[in-house]
Amino acid sequence: MRSATLMVAAALAATILTMAEVTKAQPSATPPSTLRPAASFSSIANARDRAAALFQEAAKVLQHPRCVNCHPRGDRPTQTDRMRPHEPLVVRGADGHGAPALACKTCHGDANYDVAGVPGDPHWQVAPLSMAWEGLSVGAICEQIKDPARNGNRSLAGIVDHVTTDSLVKWGWAPGGGRTPTPGTNAEFGELMRGWVDAGAHCPAG
Ligand code: HEC
Ligand code: HEC
Repeated sequence: MRSATLMVAAALAATILTMAEVTKAQPSATPPSTLRPAASFSSIANARDRAAALFQEAAKVLQHPRCVNCHPRGDRPTQTDRMRPHEPLVVRGADGHGAPALACKTCHGDANYDVAGVPGDPHWQVAPLSMAWEGLSVGAICEQIKDPARNGNRSLAGIVDHVTTDSLVKWGWAPGGGRTPTPGTNAEFGELMRGWVDAGAHCPAG
C-alpha cells in the first residue's frame, strides 16, 4: 500500500517537474495584438524622438514571428510563433526560392491551403540575407531598412510603398491556418512607417 502511494507521489512529482520545464520553454512575452495609432505620437515635439517612437511601435510588426520567420539570418526560414527551424529542412537556394530539388513552391501554393496548414502566396520566397532581421535589435532593423545597399535599393518612399502593397507583407494580417496575425491592421502599420519617414526616419538607439 505504502509503496503504491510513494509511486503515485513520485509520478506526480515528475509530472510537475515536466510541466515546469514546458512552462520555462515557452517564450515569455505573448506577441502584441494591437498598434497605437500614428496620430497619437504627434504630441512628441522633437522630430528625432518622434521618429524613433514611431519606429519602435512599428517594430511590433517587424519583429513579429510572421515577418521574422521569412527574414532569417541563415539559409533556413523558421516556422510558428516559436520561430523554430523550418521542417523539413529547406534552404534559400540561389534566388530565395529554395533548392532546385525542393523549391518553396513544391509545398507553398498561390494562396494559404488551410486544409494542410500550409501558407501560400504567388511570390512565396525567403527574404535576401541583406534583409535578415532574426536576432537583430529594433535599432539594427531600422538601420537595415533605410540602407539602400541592403534594402533592395529602395528610397524611404519605396519602403512605405512596399510595406503597404507587397502581398508577402500583407499576408502577415491574413496568415491562415490558425496562425497569430501581425498586430493592428496593415493600414495602421503603413501610417506608423509613413510617420517615421515624415519625421526624418531616425532610428531608436540599440
Ligand atoms: C516540403 C514542403 C515545404 C517546402 C519545400 C517549403 N515549405 Fe515552408 N512550410 C511548409 C509547411 C507545411 C509549413 C507550415 C508549418 C506550420 O505552420 O507548422 C511551412 C511554413 C513556412 C513558414 C512559416 C510561416 C509562419 O509564420 O509560421 C515560412 C516562413 C516558410 N514555410 C518559408 C518557406 C520558404 C521560404 C521555402 C523555400 C525556401 C519553403 N518554406 C519551402 C512546407 C514547406
Ligand atoms: C514569405 C516570405 C516573407 C514574409 C512572410 C515577409 N517577407 Fe518581407 N520580404 C520578403 C522578400 C523575398 C523580400 C525581398 C523582396 C524585394 O526586395 O523585392 C522582402 C522584403 C521586405 C522589405 C524591404 C526591404 C528591407 O529592407 O527589408 C520589407 C520592409 C519587408 N520585407 C517587410 C516585411 C514585413 C513587415 C513582413 C510581415 C508583415 C514581411 N516582410 C513578411 C519575404 C517575406
